[in-house]
Amino acid sequence: MQATAYDQVRYPGKFYPQASADRLATLGRLCGLQTILPAQCRLLELGCGDGGNLIPQALAFPQARFVGVDLAASAIEDGRRMIAALGLANVELQVADIAGFDPGPQPFDYIVAHGVLSWVPEAVRRALIALCGRLLSPRGVAYVSYSALPGGYLRNVPRDLMRFHTRAITEPQSRVRAARAAVDFMLAAVPGNGFARELIEREMAGFEGKDYFLLHDLLADENDPLYFLDFIDAATERGLQFLAEAEFGAMSTAAYPAAVRQQLDAMPRLAREQYIDFLQLRRFRQTLLCRSGQAVDLAVTVERLAELQFSSGLRPLRPDADARDAAALEFRHPYQGSFRAEEPAAKALALVLAGGDRGGMDFAALESGVAQSLGPAAAADGGLRPALVQGLLSLYARDFVEIHAARWDFCATVSDRPCASLHARLLAERGAPVVNARHGTFLLPSAGLRRLVMLLDGTRHVDELLDAWAAVTPPAEREGLSPASLQRRLQLLAENALLVG
Ligand SMILES: C[S@@+](CC[C@H](N)C(=O)[O-])C[C@H]1O[C@@H](n2cnc3c(N)ncnc32)[C@H](O)[C@@H]1O
Repeated sequence: MQATAYDQVRYPGKFYPQASADRLATLGRLCGLQTILPAQCRLLELGCGDGGNLIPQALAFPQARFVGVDLAASAIEDGRRMIAALGLANVELQVADIAGFDPGPQPFDYIVAHGVLSWVPEAVRRALIALCGRLLSPRGVAYVSYSALPGGYLRNVPRDLMRFHTRAITEPQSRVRAARAAVDFMLAAVPGNGFARELIEREMAGFEGKDYFLLHDLLADENDPLYFLDFIDAATERGLQFLAEAEFGAMSTAAYPAAVRQQLDAMPRLAREQYIDFLQLRRFRQTLLCRSGQAVDLAVTVERLAELQFSSGLRPLRPDADARDAAALEFRHPYQGSFRAEEPAAKALALVLAGGDRGGMDFAALESGVAQSLGPAAAADGGLRPALVQGLLSLYARDFVEIHAARWDFCATVSDRPCASLHARLLAERGAPVVNARHGTFLLPSAGLRRLVMLLDGTRHVDELLDAWAAVTPPAEREGLSPASLQRRLQLLAENALLVG
């Protein structure tokens, strides 16, 4: 097969939690669909690159089956090398064109196409949606991300400038350099805080230091944003319907003024989503589809939550915080900022989550924990369950709580012989973001921490680690190494679910 633009300049593969079987299963269940559990699923990824999204899932769910296809043979080769290094037998990567791909008649419970639809020619786009329509199982969920309108119109401003400026250049690195120079030229021409500067800076923000992204996105020949409703029309023709957005918070209207929120919430679901895109000038969507005819909505009930797992990184600011305190309680999340709980049920919920198992706890355990911390009178109040459902969903929309269909296994504390997974160690060696045992990604913040992770194969006792770490650290950086700094780092890895033994 001919080398493609993606063979010429590689697009580094990565795990996308929002495009994983676990997320699709979770969102499906929240919307009333009896999705297949990730541990037993069949998942197909179209345009899978080097399998960066598939491999962590194949590792976590040995009984499930994963298939990926991509036109770029060099990416598939890289992926196959990683699969061989990890000894995985439940994931297969194929070099194939989506337009002519035929995996046979057996349906898939999950189909994923991340970063593909808007960046391929019209015929491939149609083939991609047709494959979802043909291959999705009855209780299946498809994930398709795409560049959305109206935000895509704004992105065309720097795109058109850069494509015009580089129209005579073919060599990729020279194109990138010239494209960036064109943007600088424009920024130098526009006044301090003017509209044009704001627009260009906003649109270019995600491309800093990512030449491959600039090349395959803004500079690509194909980059066709589309309206949400046009995408849904194309999916409907193939027997599919809108299920949800893969990021739960993307469907929330909570941040709008009350009058706007009321109007939006009174609309039919599809119209509401389209209006939200107009209001937000949305430029990217990660839309989940399921088969037409399935009854789906966002009226989340306790029954829907019953089979899911909940966990949270929220921690109370005061260690003696009590749900029955009259004052509001403040919480902090390591990545999402602070959360203030005013109502007793919200305080109790956040406290139970904060004290709960990071691998996940079920709704029954949450409910009894909340009832216990509120006392018998509050627990007997029939309003507690609906308040808990609402509380969980509002925390989920703000990423303060994680909801999973799978339950994860990892070491929450540092053992005598700390062990990171082989996959994490191989990714650390490449300087890539590692995938943790809760299926989140974690960018190791320093070369020192990367070197430490690479040593954690479970063979070294904690007392031997400091010397081993020093031995692989350049002399100039050794000064900062101490038993305390080692302990802090191991603790950080444990808290972020990166230790499996
Ligand atoms: C922007 S990359 C996204 C890769 C991966 N999904 C990710 O998000 O990291 C687009 C991928 O689609 C693949 N692709 C483009 N056209 C294709 C086609 N007709 N058939 C199969 N794969 C294709 C490219 O080779 C590339 O790996």
